[in-house]
Amino acid sequence: MAVRDLFVTRSIADLVKDTATEGEQLKKSIGPVALTALGVGAIIGTGIFVVIGQGAGLAGPGVILAFILAGVTCAFSALSYAELSAAVPVSGSAYTFSYATLGELVAFIIGWDLILEYGVSVAAVAVGWGGNINEFLKSAFDVSLPTAISQSPSEGGVFNIPAVVVVLGITLLLTIGTRESTRINAVMVGVKIAILLFFIVVAITAFDPTHFTPFAPKGVPGIAAAASTIFFAYIGFDAVTTASEETKKPARDLPIAIIGSLLISTVLYVLVSFTAVGIANTKTLADSDAPLSTALREGAGIPWAGAVLSLGALIAITSVVLVIMYGQTRIFFAMCRDGLLPRRLASVSPRFGTPAKITVGFGILIAILAALVPLSVIVELTNIGTLFAFILVNIGVIVLRRTRPDLERPFKVPFVPVFPAIGIILCGYLIVQLPIETKLRFVVWLIIGLVIYFTYSRSHSRLRTGEKTDLPPVEGA
Ligand code: ALA
Repeated sequence: MAVRDLFVTRSIADLVKDTATEGEQLKKSIGPVALTALGVGAIIGTGIFVVIGQGAGLAGPGVILAFILAGVTCAFSALSYAELSAAVPVSGSAYTFSYATLGELVAFIIGWDLILEYGVSVAAVAVGWGGNINEFLKSAFDVSLPTAISQSPSEGGVFNIPAVVVVLGITLLLTIGTRESTRINAVMVGVKIAILLFFIVVAITAFDPTHFTPFAPKGVPGIAAAASTIFFAYIGFDAVTTASEETKKPARDLPIAIIGSLLISTVLYVLVSFTAVGIANTKTLADSDAPLSTALREGAGIPWAGAVLSLGALIAITSVVLVIMYGQTRIFFAMCRDGLLPRRLASVSPRFGTPAKITVGFGILIAILAALVPLSVIVELTNIGTLFAFILVNIGVIVLRRTRPDLERPFKVPFVPVFPAIGIILCGYLIVQLPIETKLRFVVWLIIGLVIYFTYSRSHSRLRTGEKTDLPPVEGA
């Protein structure tokens, strides 16, 4: 096998042509507002409602700077996502861009890596949802679900039923139709923005500036470690690019939605972290499973506001489950369509116009994971997978500018290669901050992926078999 062979790329025209294949065509039903809502829907969730506590524990009041650092890191990568998604408007996000720029092996690795970002994190987010429903029941009605049916085994439970319920409910919604799903998402997004604004306004009334000293008890290392953790809160703007094929005007709307949703979330996060620190000391935030709700209840002394907030968090997290799971099904769909995973799974249900088989299959797998896996470790694992994907997307922009200078780019990253290079350095910096166990787990995950690639995907790839593409099979394959 020639090494060159592993880096064979798919032509962009060919990728786009695939999207028009009979029986594999997704319905074009999403406009710019719904697409931006899809981004916000994926972004604002467990990160700001739950992981902020972990960040406050690491950085103290300096968690505000951690939110800014993570936001800036994402901004550079978001520009690269905007350029590539507008130029290659095919479902599959970083996976597809890599296929067109860095070659099949890298594309497969990225697709495999994105299962970590999307599929595995959905399970974790669903667990966070289960925890929040308990918090809500406790604060509103003073009842809580028995541990046995509301926690994973490692947390003393048997089976996490609320997490399973939310995953299966969303699976049903996604199977029925994209337009229905994005409408419900838009409503949930409105609620989550309103609930964060509610938090900010209530918190201002009880604001106490003395909470800000000492500002950074663990110095720059504490802030950097917090940034690498709360990076989780920003994950999701890239999910917009998994909807490319279902977008009415992808060239115009994808950049708007990617940058718009990141901007909205960043502004809200900085304000929320600032006001949260203003009403509660960071230890209180760090010790809570629902830090914002606790901040209102204990810090500001307004229990009813805490109950309202936990209800809002539930709705917010539901939409994250919806969008991230949607993204996962679309990436997997693209990989199956390319033959890197079983081709027959890439069919679109004639009745619903959605990839029903994949959606139901993933729904069941994620529900099983959600029933048995706890939240904590997976946040970091998701982060490393996502940061790695961002690095490859930034590299993709630089490579594609050289290999395809002629390509029509409706949106262009300014100052290439400087901006994507800054994106790469910042993502690399955050990866370095993550715990060593996270890095080891990530390497194991990649090795499993490589085994699948070399034993299955390589020989079944449509690029090699030549099936339904203009390209001849690759020599020696
Ligand atoms: N950014 C998403 C969240 O915070 C994954 O839940």
